[in-house]
Amino acid sequence: MASGISRRALLAGGATLPVAGGLTRDGASTVTPAKPTAMHTTGPAATHTEPTAVSARAVEPFDGAHQAGIATEPQAHAVFLGLDLRPGSDKEAIVRLLQLLTDDARRLTQGRPALADTEPELAADPARLTITFGFGPGLFASAGVKSPVAALPAFSIDRLDRRWSGGDLLVQVCADDPVTVAHALRMVVKDARSFARVRWTQRGFRRSAHAHSPGTTQRNLMGQLDGTVNPADLDRAVWISEGPEWLRGGTTLVLRRIRMNLETWDAADRVAREFTIGRRLDTGAPLTGRAERDEPDFSRLNRLGFPVIPEYAHIRRARVNDPGQRILRRPYNYDEGVAADGSSDSGLIFVSYQADIGRQFIPVQRRLAEGDLLNEWITPVGSAVFAVPPGCAPGGWIGDRLLA
Ligand code: HEM
Repeated sequence: MASGISRRALLAGGATLPVAGGLTRDGASTVTPAKPTAMHTTGPAATHTEPTAVSARAVEPFDGAHQAGIATEPQAHAVFLGLDLRPGSDKEAIVRLLQLLTDDARRLTQGRPALADTEPELAADPARLTITFGFGPGLFASAGVKSPVAALPAFSIDRLDRRWSGGDLLVQVCADDPVTVAHALRMVVKDARSFARVRWTQRGFRRSAHAHSPGTTQRNLMGQLDGTVNPADLDRAVWISEGPEWLRGGTTLVLRRIRMNLETWDAADRVAREFTIGRRLDTGAPLTGRAERDEPDFSRLNRLGFPVIPEYAHIRRARVNDPGQRILRRPYNYDEGVAADGSSDSGLIFVSYQADIGRQFIPVQRRLAEGDLLNEWITPVGSAVFAVPPGCAPGGWIGDRLLA
């Protein structure tokens, strides 16, 4: 548990519940042990509905004022590729690499084979493929340009592993079909091979398009609706409108790989789980409301005088009052298989886009690191930041306004 949390807040917030017992939502104690089966009694019953039709041929535009894959309705599958430029790469090499990558990204996203596609049939079903590029601090250093992004400061909760962190160039590949993602990734890696080496790949997924209607909030592997509160006005919150001319219309991307300890989360009962976030598990409604989109009432007290949404609930700590300063969260789940003892390697590839990392992302992450009930079950193990250039015109290439 992060320091700075008072005993009163812990009790009101139910942070001791995972091993100890329970509190009712009013804060009165119970002795009912947490039983996983209790979860099933209140869960939604399965009903039969027709699956939503998903078109494998659906195409997202590539050219435009902004790169696709950010404001795009999140696709079901993603892979994030972190590349390091080969030592001695100069501006000329970076330009050649970006021209090659842009050309193939434009082709593949529009359902056409890459230039030297060895499996052209796989390109025929783009399934809303988007390929988005981000530049890390190392790319700017190699190009001899001042970097608009820097690695995040260290947070007390971090247990970062180099193999999930950093990178000179990010390629984010998203589509509603995993075969499309695998093919696009292979084409990108082939293009990059003589210019860069792979630093990491991180694969993520959300509910498949067949099982999920567009516009509904996804669930993460802790079972929570994740993505309810996001900015509506992307022109203010996400797209850069000041600073260097070449970055206007672009944004910044923070990627945090966050491991979930699902084994200890299993021991938390439903009340503890809902206190931790400050929202209900079934509807995603704030604990002070009825529907997912209801505004939380952070000042409401229960009959014992404790806040209904605990002081250290995730949504209270993460709240940014000015909607124009909120970060755009577009997270993916990861689940890398099960160890011999049955424990999982699961978590969230937390990805956020914001016009300004220092003004928008860091204050939220700092508050969460200092005190968030969720910290009991999550550990950031990877961290990377990128500047995302604006989109390009037909015939242009990503980064042309900076490097041409
Ligand atoms: C495994 C890690 C995390 C999990 C499971 C998680 C889960 C959630 C859930 C369930 C919500 C409530 C529903 C929603 O609005 O989406 C939420 C809200 C939010 N989270 Fe997280 N989160 C995680 C990490 C983070 C991180 C690292 C940040 C930023 C540094 C963050 C920032 C936010 C923000 C800004 C909100 C909206 C708060 C509001 O204004 O209501 N979260 N998160």
